[in-house]
Amino acid sequence: MSKDEKSKKNKISTAIGLDIGGTGIKGGIVDLKKGKLVGDRYRIDTPKPSTPEAVAEVVAQIVTELGSREGAPDADAPVGITFPAIIHEGVALSAANVDKSWIDTDVDTLFTDALNRPVQVMNDADAAGLAEVRYGAGEGVEGTVLVITLGTGIGSALIHDGILVPNLELGHLEVDGHDAESRASASAREREDLAWEDYAVRLQRYFSHVEFLFSPKLFVVGGGISKRSEDFLPRLDLRTPIKPAALKNNAGIVGGALQAAIHFGLRK
Ligand code: BGC
Repeated sequence: MSKDEKSKKNKISTAIGLDIGGTGIKGGIVDLKKGKLVGDRYRIDTPKPSTPEAVAEVVAQIVTELGSREGAPDADAPVGITFPAIIHEGVALSAANVDKSWIDTDVDTLFTDALNRPVQVMNDADAAGLAEVRYGAGEGVEGTVLVITLGTGIGSALIHDGILVPNLELGHLEVDGHDAESRASASAREREDLAWEDYAVRLQRYFSHVEFLFSPKLFVVGGGISKRSEDFLPRLDLRTPIKPAALKNNAGIVGGALQAAIHFGLRK
């Protein structure tokens, strides 16, 4: 490919990404070549109750702050936003760990109106997964990579040969009669004050089941808890290699920004 053709498909080098979580809403300016944040990330607590209107207000505050920084992307450039629910054609179809009023909300339109610029919304784990295969622990891996995020819930992303299959929702598999995330998420460990070895037993049960169903080439474990991966990953016995996420807690921001750029034809 000529230099010209290449630059046509990589029209922007940075984009704003936001990651909406149950406790915090974080944003950053992402260098799309390196998959890294430019400058610090900016975080505001998730409002309580986390209704669409209240969250949209915080999202606008974060984008205003990031947009006012020196070297920020253009004011009409797209923004990528991740959300912890099924996002089908821009609409939220679930709300496991956020206010129930999100169900059936057109999240894409809500944020497009609040920001007055193009927006691309996607599931939070899908964004993290995309970032990990592009820039992180799953880079260059052919076949199926399963990225599992352990946080307030359990998020999941399936990427096959670099292509994301969205909205997998493996956190809600039923394992031993329980919704999996109610027993094996990072918040379940904290809530029940589990020792690492006891938590690892739950993760073993969960990952063995997912491994049986999908036979992935690689598991990547994300979420804040991936910082403590030494405490639990070595205790797991699986056929599949399992690695901590490389982008740690920024994977959602990075993947969201990348997907927005791809969606609007500004990046390949
Ligand atoms: C939600 C998913 C989300 C995950 C991580 C689950 O409860 O159903 O959509 O990706 O939590 O936030």
